Amino acid sequence: MTGQMVRWREFTDPVRFERSATDFILKAAADAIAERGAFRIVLAGGETPRSIYARVACAHADWDRWHVYFGDERCLPPDDPGRNSVMARSAWLDRVAIPTAQIHEIEAEQGPEAGAQGYAATLSDIGPFDLVLLGLGEDGHTASIFPGGRWDRMAGGNSTDDDVAIPPVVPVFDAPKPPSERISLSPGRLGDARRVLFLVAGKGKQIAVARWQAGDPIPASRIRPRGGVDVFFLDSAPR
Ligand code: 6PG
Repeated sequence: MTGQMVRWREFTDPVRFERSATDFILKAAADAIAERGAFRIVLAGGETPRSIYARVACAHADWDRWHVYFGDERCLPPDDPGRNSVMARSAWLDRVAIPTAQIHEIEAEQGPEAGAQGYAATLSDIGPFDLVLLGLGEDGHTASIFPGGRWDRMAGGNSTDDDVAIPPVVPVFDAPKPPSERISLSPGRLGDARRVLFLVAGKGKQIAVARWQAGDPIPASRIRPRGGVDVFFLDSAPR
């Protein structure tokens, strides 16, 4: 079993946290565009990235080279404010000139099974992502990979080899964080990336972070890109 390499960076100032995350994203984009002519980014859900997305929206970037994907989506109607895509659109995507055809939302309104199948087809000819953004839940979940979830059991534990056997996009029916029905990229697909950046903010995350640092097999520790993951942790925010 290959372990996860983690580079930790702790912040106490929210503005520094947001600026550093924004710089990380823009640098990953510039590098990918210089090397390969395109930038494929996977967005995180939840609330933590909102202010960072708003900062990215103010940058001057080669938007027509950006291709946007989502790490997970909640099975809600397309314009429901609870959708991760709606948050990303209002904070960022609706304000910049990324061609609509290059924004690949998960059609979660179709339900977990059909939506997962559709997104697997969308990703079928996409190689490694350039950057995957992820959040961390208080129980250690990331994207919609929750502890003890259906395919967490299917994977037989915390093994990279087992993760390879899980389909790249999975339906989730029993998420403890509402809504219970979701669609998520698998640990293996999320880890098939040149860079992975976790954005973690709030006192409520301290226990999960401590467990992660202690080597507990939380879902976040199953994302194992070859180059390791970066974690930006802001522990001062009262969220
Ligand atoms: C979601 C997520 C989830 C999220 C974490 C952190 O759809 O809710 O993708 O994995 O990133 O729960 O959420 P917060 O940033 O809101 O704390």
